[in-house]
Amino acid sequence: MASHQTLASRYDAALATLQGRGQNHVVRWWDELGVRDKEHLLGQIEAVPWDVLDRLIPTHVQSEPHGRIPTDLRPAPVFPSTPNGDQEKLYATASQRGRELIAAGKVAAFTVAGGQGTRLGFDGPKGALPVTPIGGQTLFELFADSIQAARRAFDCSIPWYVMTSQANHQATVRFFEEHDYFGLPEEDVALFEQGMLPALDFKGRLLLDRKDGLALAPDGHGGSLKALARSGALSDARQRGCSILSYFQVDNPLVKPFDPLFIGLHASTGSEMSTKVTRKADDLERVGNLCLADGRLTVIEYTEFPQHLAGQKNPDGRRTFDAGNIAIHLLDVSFVERLVAESLDLPFRRAEKVVPYIDESGRRVEPDKPNAVKLEKFVFDALPLAKNPLVLEVERAEEFSPIKNAAGVDSLETAQRAQIARACRWLESAGVAIPRKSDGTPDVTIEIAPSFALDAGEIQSKRDRLPLLRPGGSFYLQ
Ligand code: UD1
Repeated sequence: MASHQTLASRYDAALATLQGRGQNHVVRWWDELGVRDKEHLLGQIEAVPWDVLDRLIPTHVQSEPHGRIPTDLRPAPVFPSTPNGDQEKLYATASQRGRELIAAGKVAAFTVAGGQGTRLGFDGPKGALPVTPIGGQTLFELFADSIQAARRAFDCSIPWYVMTSQANHQATVRFFEEHDYFGLPEEDVALFEQGMLPALDFKGRLLLDRKDGLALAPDGHGGSLKALARSGALSDARQRGCSILSYFQVDNPLVKPFDPLFIGLHASTGSEMSTKVTRKADDLERVGNLCLADGRLTVIEYTEFPQHLAGQKNPDGRRTFDAGNIAIHLLDVSFVERLVAESLDLPFRRAEKVVPYIDESGRRVEPDKPNAVKLEKFVFDALPLAKNPLVLEVERAEEFSPIKNAAGVDSLETAQRAQIARACRWLESAGVAIPRKSDGTPDVTIEIAPSFALDAGEIQSKRDRLPLLRPGGSFYLQ
C-alpha cells in the first residue's frame, strides 16, 4: 500500500512537471502499465534535467542555434610531425620527458565508447568488433594489448578508464568479464556510464521508445568530463598519481595511446589539453577543423565549417585549413577537475538523427530520415577553455584509420588495409623486403600485435626475429 502511495505521489509530481511543459503525452498509457513499468517511466521522467531542456528547446530544438561560427577564423598553429631544424632539440627533450612521465605512472588511458555506432550497423558495442587482419582481435583487445605492452616496456602500472552509455554498458561489462579483462588487472580497468538525455521531435516534444520508456540518447563525448568525476574515475586517477588522461575514441585501431613525444610536448609547454591532427584527405573530409576562432583554439565540425574556407588554398597550393581532428587528446587531470569544480559547462550542440518512436496510437515508427534532435556535448569544446592548448600533426597512415561505416570510406576494410600497410612500413624500415603487387600494394597479409612491437623503432630492435616474407603469405608477429 505504502509503495502504491509513493508511486501515486511521484506520479502527481511528474504530471505537474510534464503538464507545465506540454509534455504530458509521455504518460498517455499510464493506466495500462504494470507497477514495474510505471516505476521505470517515473524514474526516467525524474532523471530528466528539465532546467537544461527548458533552456535548450527554444534555441536548439525548435530552431537552430545561431551565430556559433566566429567570423575571425584562422588556421591553428601546429607542431609538425617531424621537427624543423630549431625544433629538433625540443622534440628530443620532449620525447625523453614523455617516456619518464609514462614510466612514473603519470599517464592513464581513457577510451570513449558510449556512442551508438548506428552507421556501422554492428550489433553490439563497437569495441567488440573483430578488426585485426589475421588474429581477428577486437578493438577492446587491441587497446588492452597496447596498454599491456606499454606496462611492460615502461615497467609501470596504467589504469584504463572506459566510458560506455546506458545503451551498451551491460554488454560492454559482460565482454570485458568474458575475456577476463584481456589479461589486465581487473582493478586497473574501470567502466562507467555517461549521461543520457531525451531525444525530442522538431517541435520539442519528448519521444517515447515504448509505452513505459522515453527515447534517450547519450549526451555526447563531452559528457565524459562530468562522467569521469561522477563515476569516481577522476579521483581514482588522482589517487594513483596520474596527472594526464590519454583520450581516444573506440573506433580507431591505429591509435598510439602512449606517444612519448605528444605527452612530453604537452607537459613541457604547460598545455592543459592537447590534440593530434592529420592533414585532411580532401577539402570536405568528415573531420573537425582545428582553427583559431577569435584567437582561441577551437574545433569546427565538418558539418558547420564554411565551404569557402574548406576549399581555400595558400599561394603554395596547400589547403589553408588543413588540420583535421583525429580525436586523440591529452587532458590534464587538474584541468578536468577545474572544469567540473567551476561548473564550466561545454555548450550543447544540436544533432538531427533518426530516432524510432511510438506514435499516439501506440504504433512503432521507424523513420527513414532524421525526425529528432539529440542534444550532445563535444569534448573538443574544452580546448578553448584550456591553458596553452597544443596541436601536434601526425602521419595519418601511422595513427588514424577509424571504423565508422559498414563499407567504403572509414570502414573495417580500409582499417585492415591501413593496419597491413603500416606493418609493412615498419618491417621495411628494419630492412625486410615486402613482396608487392604490380600496383605497389603489399602482396602479403601481415599483423604485428602490440605485444611484438608498438612502433617501427621496436621492430628495428627485433631484426633477428623478423621473417622472410613470401608473396601471398600471411605473417602474424606476436
Ligand atoms: C568524430 C569527431 C570529428 C573527428 C572524427 C575523427 C565528433 C562530434 N566529431 O566524428 O571531429 O574528426 O571523430 O574520427 O565527435 N561517443 C561517446 N558518446 C557519445 C557520442 C560519441 O562515447 O555520446 C564516442 C563514440 O563511441 C566514438 C566517438 O565518440 O568513439 C566519436 O563519435 P562519432 O559520432 O562517431 O563522431 P564522428 O562524427 O565520427
